[in-house]
Amino acid sequence: MIDTIKWIGGSGNAPASQVMILDQRLLPHTVSYVECTDYRQVVDCIKTLAIRGAPAIGIAAAMGIALAASAISASDVKEFSSRLSTAIDDFLNSRPTAVNIQWAAERIERLIETNKHLPVSAIKDMIAKEGVIILNEDIEINKAIGRVGADLIKDGATVLTHCNAGALATGGYGTATAPIRTAIAQGKRVLVIADETRPILQGARLTAWELMQDNIPVTLIADNAAGELMRRGEIDLCIVGTDRTAKNGDVANKIGTYSVAVLAKEHNIPFYVAAPLSSIDFKIERGDDIPIEERPSHEVTNVFGRCEIAPKGVKVINRAFDITPAKYVTLILTEKGAFRPEDIHKLDPKGKTQ
Ligand code: MRU
Repeated sequence: MIDTIKWIGGSGNAPASQVMILDQRLLPHTVSYVECTDYRQVVDCIKTLAIRGAPAIGIAAAMGIALAASAISASDVKEFSSRLSTAIDDFLNSRPTAVNIQWAAERIERLIETNKHLPVSAIKDMIAKEGVIILNEDIEINKAIGRVGADLIKDGATVLTHCNAGALATGGYGTATAPIRTAIAQGKRVLVIADETRPILQGARLTAWELMQDNIPVTLIADNAAGELMRRGEIDLCIVGTDRTAKNGDVANKIGTYSVAVLAKEHNIPFYVAAPLSSIDFKIERGDDIPIEERPSHEVTNVFGRCEIAPKGVKVINRAFDITPAKYVTLILTEKGAFRPEDIHKLDPKGKTQ
């Protein structure tokens, strides 16, 4: 499995500290990494989708904040924190829907608060290590989701997925792809149907590519073909990822997810959402409160940033994500087990409603 993101350096003060980001804008044609030595390059990679997928951009933010931290000279922790907050804000403002950036930033802020009695240099080292810890934890969390979800996949099953919630969207192994990878490791035969996922084509460019790299059987369909495959009985279950899931179990994910969920319900096909706890926002009560990113119109009027497919000047709506209400979700698969959407609030670490 190819690395989505790597930290080179190890110490917050090491001059060679770098974040290496696999440039997903160029996939599936070219495999190349963007070498980031300044946190602003990481912000740019997130904004322009060189790295994308909720857990992956959380990891990128953590490592980017570590790059920013390494470049700060401050005489005390208070000054250090206040100067670091500019970089943290830049990450928080980069992409609004996935909660993972906020989750990673809060984790680093807590780390600074807990260790504020230590010298600034020691805190910088800890922040640099934290990004790598978050990356490694993410892979283990995905494997746990895989163990939870693999039981839901029977031998010979065909699984529909939307967008890319695979290894490329995470530290590795993927969230929606985790049950598939685990089921295959258990010896089951599984076929993946990948929605192409207009407008950015994460399904065609990324999911199909990453699964083929790992010899996992995958068939690509146009987004508008999913309903007909379901009507013909050619899909057994759906598994998607999430950018942010609200406390009531409403799910924000790539635009088009809602249509798949409604179709799945109509055809009595289970619709599962793979969600690490880092993607569940217990501060948000319902899906309609989740901020939805609006992206540039050229993503819809052009394919691959080149070929124009619409008349110049046409008006465009380009919401990057949609909300799938909880009633369409069969189960949410987390590292702590599978939950009905109405029970997901029980995982709230601060919840008194358990
Ligand atoms: O715009 P993207 O490519 O960042 O959107 C990604 C998705 O919608 C994924 O399904 C989601 O982040 C889950 S990734 C494990």
